[in-house]
Amino acid sequence: MTETTISSVLKEDRMFPPPEAFQSNAHIKSMAQYDKLWNLAKDQPEVFWGEQAKDLLDWHTPFSKVMEWNDPFVKWFSDGELNASYNCLDRHLETRGNKPAIIWEGEPGDSRIISYRELYEEVCRFANGLKKLGVQKGDVATIYMPMIPELTIAVLACARLGVTHSVIFGGFSAEAIADRNNDASAKIVITADGGYRRGKVIPLKDQVDASIEHSPTVEHVLVCRRTRQDITMDPIRDHWLHELTSDVSSDCPPEFVNSEHPLFILYTSGSTGKPKGIKHTTGGYLLGATLSSRFIFDLKEDDIYWCTADVGWITGHSYIVYGPLANGTTSVMYEGAPNHPDFGRFWSIVERYDVSIFYTAPTAIRAFIKAGDELPKKHDLSSLRLLGTVGEPINPEAWMWYHEVIGQKRCPIVDTWWQTETGSIMIAPLPGVTPTLPGSATKPFFGVVPEIVDKKGQPVPDGHGGYLVLSQPWPSMLRTIHGDDDRFKETYWSQVPGKYFTGDGARQDENGYYWILGRIDDVLNVSGHRLSTMEIESALVSHPAVAEAAVVGMPHDLKGEGIFCFVTLEGAGSKLSSDELKSQLTSHVASHIGAIAKPDEIRFTDALPKTRSGKIMRRLLRDIAAGRETSGDTTTLEDHGVLDSLRQ
Ligand code: WT7
Repeated sequence: MTETTISSVLKEDRMFPPPEAFQSNAHIKSMAQYDKLWNLAKDQPEVFWGEQAKDLLDWHTPFSKVMEWNDPFVKWFSDGELNASYNCLDRHLETRGNKPAIIWEGEPGDSRIISYRELYEEVCRFANGLKKLGVQKGDVATIYMPMIPELTIAVLACARLGVTHSVIFGGFSAEAIADRNNDASAKIVITADGGYRRGKVIPLKDQVDASIEHSPTVEHVLVCRRTRQDITMDPIRDHWLHELTSDVSSDCPPEFVNSEHPLFILYTSGSTGKPKGIKHTTGGYLLGATLSSRFIFDLKEDDIYWCTADVGWITGHSYIVYGPLANGTTSVMYEGAPNHPDFGRFWSIVERYDVSIFYTAPTAIRAFIKAGDELPKKHDLSSLRLLGTVGEPINPEAWMWYHEVIGQKRCPIVDTWWQTETGSIMIAPLPGVTPTLPGSATKPFFGVVPEIVDKKGQPVPDGHGGYLVLSQPWPSMLRTIHGDDDRFKETYWSQVPGKYFTGDGARQDENGYYWILGRIDDVLNVSGHRLSTMEIESALVSHPAVAEAAVVGMPHDLKGEGIFCFVTLEGAGSKLSSDELKSQLTSHVASHIGAIAKPDEIRFTDALPKTRSGKIMRRLLRDIAAGRETSGDTTTLEDHGVLDSLRQ
């Protein structure tokens, strides 16, 4: 990256227009229709969003104001009242009561089909259970669960009561749970005894137990029975879900909340400091998730839709829970790993449940390619009509494989760019309209006005790389970082005043298509998950043998980015063999952050390359990690000998 722009070399000219059969049945059928709506949303956002909000959502109290912008704080529909679970459940009961809402498959092979009416009743019972514990509107509930229906039920039960949920991905450690409990002042943790992953039982309740000592605000732990392994139950603090709800009613009136009531907090990594609690509110978020699901996945009444993400990430919030259910869609949910018992598991699920829309991540696609074409070819994938990807840029060759082997050249692919902060998809093709190019997320969705700028906030010429910013507020945008408005302003609004800074590089080509170039800050994208190098460094430094650590990304075939750690040792560390110490440090990072942050490589060194002012020059370490020659300026490097010794 030079001072002002990001160099971009990828050229792609294979273009795939939407198949005619798809186009003629799509919600949005023509580029003219897209242009008209996009321009309306850009030029008269209050008209566009006011209409959409009335059309797509049920309001208990109608709103009179659409948007209020108080740079950089925004409110949408601020005098309206609604309930998100009502919009996902109650309003479907009359017409879709018996329609499957969730088709769930556990990793061991057990399964459940839950109709909208059953889901409604379970959510009401769960909510009544929470009420018995005194959990109420304004409280925060941490949810740390496997991918079982009770996870969706817990989320919707919170929404029903106006309780703000904070879902933590089941791969995080006790320490990470405690940090998040404290940051959000969580009153209750909702968990399960365990979950299944690659044939093993993941001990979720044990992690929660270990976090609780350091979570003074937590009064209750609610436990769902899944794996039935032995766990310890505190007689006062802990409650079994099935016991708590054995005598409750299956009706629970929704708590109608203000549109700006916080629906959830979701923690994500930043380049500095502790994880950021991204705060999303009710009306705007739900509208973004509902509208984008309908048009980008072209949802129809008889679709069987499957998003393979975990509800612990934003993709699961928006495109497993809120978006599909608000649209009355049948959605597949799978508990386990894609390779259990082998890499054919996803294709077997597609075949057995007639999945028509399939949404997954590039990292999974790369793993499937590696596992070979025989597995998908063993299964009947003819039910599929639309494919999607999310999480990181997809390599054109992976896109082509997805198109040919999974989509059998019949299915459009929507490459969807967005973030935890944006709440819903921002840049993506409309499947019946936009010709796709492998590797491009193509065009902005309604209400999204991207710009590519240099360091000074000036637009760069077409074809040049730069920083991606969004220049107009949209309903599902984050409202702030929980408890830290200053960090919110600093992180997202200080780079280019008045415009939302995404932290991604991008370029726009001559057709106006966007190509996302990846993160530009010290944040890694490992298998589609954002990890902060700084947090991994802190975890390493907290080990007694480590003096200093610098973590950078390195190219990795399957994960996209791997984690490369450069470590200098305190005297004591040298007593262990380097292999022993490496494995100690690896489990140390896993226990501090979670298994997702395990280093791929650890290199011990006597010193790290630093500037004269003492800043670690990560740019040089990235070259070394990638096995490249050092590029760029090294004149500020204090000690040139350090680089030679690092290359070993
Ligand atoms: C970052 C956001 C939003 C759901 C998953 C991750 C990268 C996401 C794409 C895409 C290129 C992508 C960006 C973004 N990203 N989707 N289609 N093409 N890059 O959510 O953890 O908030 O990460 O993921 O770098 O900023 P997240």
